[in-house]
Amino acid sequence: MNSSIEKLLNDQIKFEASASMQYLAMASWADTNGYNGVAEFFYLQSEEERVHMIKLVKFINERSATVIIPDLDKPRSDFGSLNQLFETFLEQEVFVTEKINHIIYECLQHKDYNVHNFMQWYVTEQLEEEAVAKTLLDKLMIIGDNKSGHYLFDRDINTIASDKANQE
Ligand code: FEO
Repeated sequence: MNSSIEKLLNDQIKFEASASMQYLAMASWADTNGYNGVAEFFYLQSEEERVHMIKLVKFINERSATVIIPDLDKPRSDFGSLNQLFETFLEQEVFVTEKINHIIYECLQHKDYNVHNFMQWYVTEQLEEEAVAKTLLDKLMIIGDNKSGHYLFDRDINTIASDKANQE
């Protein structure tokens, strides 16, 4: 594997791991603030990011390149509102999408079609995750400061989380 592609894939391990820890911190914030549905959603989201990370670790090892398990920065754990929580979710996903797109670009530059093919799964996953984050943030924008709106949002997202958990 080209060394710059190897480095980018290792960086991506860190981004996925950081996302997993960030979503765990967000789940915990929601749990302590009475949003049990939102908490379940982010506990699951955290698990998903861990799966994304492990998929990269296994792929790099299969290709006989070197995996570096990274140090992680402390995730943000203080949020002023549900809106802030979901803004962070969307920002996080947009950031990861940019990084994935960069890997795809570099794969084409180095003609590494094997990694390019592997990364397509991430491209599809990012499309889906960004769409979910945007939809949920749009709903919160409509709800504004309405407390009963937040209650219903939390109840509805609990259903989304349960459906997701049943699919896995
Ligand atoms: Fe694996 Fe949501 O980035």
